[in-house]
Amino acid sequence: MMRVLVTGGAGFIGSHLVDRLVHEGYKVRVVDNLSSGRTENLRRHIDSNAIEFVIGDLKDPYIALRSVENVDAVFHFAANPEVRVSSIDPETHFNENIVATFNLLEAMRKRNVREIVFASSSSVYGEPDEIPVDENAPIKPVSVYGASKASCETLIHAYSKLYKIKAVILRYANVVGPRLRHGVIWDLINKLIRNPRELEILGDGRQIRSYIYIDDAIEATINAWRKTDADYEVYNIGNEDWITVDEVADEIIKIMRLKDVKKIYKPMLHGVGWLGDVKRITLKIDKMKRIGFKPSMSSKEAVKTTARKLLEEISVKI
Ligand SMILES: NC(=O)c1ccc[n+]([C@@H]2O[C@H](COP(=O)([O-])OP(=O)(O)OC[C@H]3O[C@@H](n4cnc5c(N)ncnc54)[C@H](O)[C@@H]3O)[C@@H](O)[C@H]2O)c1
Repeated sequence: MMRVLVTGGAGFIGSHLVDRLVHEGYKVRVVDNLSSGRTENLRRHIDSNAIEFVIGDLKDPYIALRSVENVDAVFHFAANPEVRVSSIDPETHFNENIVATFNLLEAMRKRNVREIVFASSSSVYGEPDEIPVDENAPIKPVSVYGASKASCETLIHAYSKLYKIKAVILRYANVVGPRLRHGVIWDLINKLIRNPRELEILGDGRQIRSYIYIDDAIEATINAWRKTDADYEVYNIGNEDWITVDEVADEIIKIMRLKDVKKIYKPMLHGVGWLGDVKRITLKIDKMKRIGFKPSMSSKEAVKTTARKLLEEISVKI
């Protein structure tokens, strides 16, 4: 059976991917520095010795080398995923995302590992002229996070051509589900727990986003990995429909059974929520559909299910 490495495997998406790969019988190694990931997410695999867990930082080239030893494929999901923080602290993002990816690619080259699946992001498109965007739309990131993902993609492209590494690039929309600990749903829930009467919304609330539920995102990831024959391929992974931040807030308020919550909007220029935020982005997913995958939940269903599950996880009675 194939041996695979999941970087960032203690994080939100990474740990769900580990669940799936273990379930399918792969030999899985995880490397994670636990900066935002949690051992708890992998508890049952660690307790049953189903995975090898390396606690280490990919910014250290030695850890990168140690991580890829004797693996056949790498799922690279380690990163700092906080878009908002990236514009306040660009250096962290440069190191966590670009340096770590470079170290990993170097390690793969040196140890002859010939397959990588990379968790990129729709933020590489920046503020597109037209939505939805397909995979050929110009890469014009407006956040340091988006720029770091675009840089990783181009590095991976060069390594793929130079050293015959098969690469599958996945540009995810907002992925949501249990274990999520960042992003708008998590932020709004926590604000409402702290103050159920008032809710600060970053932006004018009319920002448009598409959300994909974690089970769908994992299915799409495995599908893209298995069905790609080309040496280098890029896929958008998201939903065709979308929902505004204001609607996300309303759904959460309803689920938490709160009444008369006063919403306070904090728009910056053009109504965005923070430096590097995007007003409207949705993805064309025809390519993903051509390889036989369609999301089972809409954006709104994904948001609602996630809000319910996160409230359960943190034991909030509703
Ligand atoms: N959640 C989303 O909506 C979304 C959307 C697009 C892309 N992505 C990308 O998917 C990947 C997973 O995101 P997530 O939402 O699960 O975030 P997450 O923070 O839960 O997972 C990232 C993991 O990487 C680990 N990590 C960070 N830097 C590391 C380093 N230098 N060495 C080793 N481990 C390190 C963290 O501890 C964490 O466990 C990230 O690359 C993210 O940029 C996420």
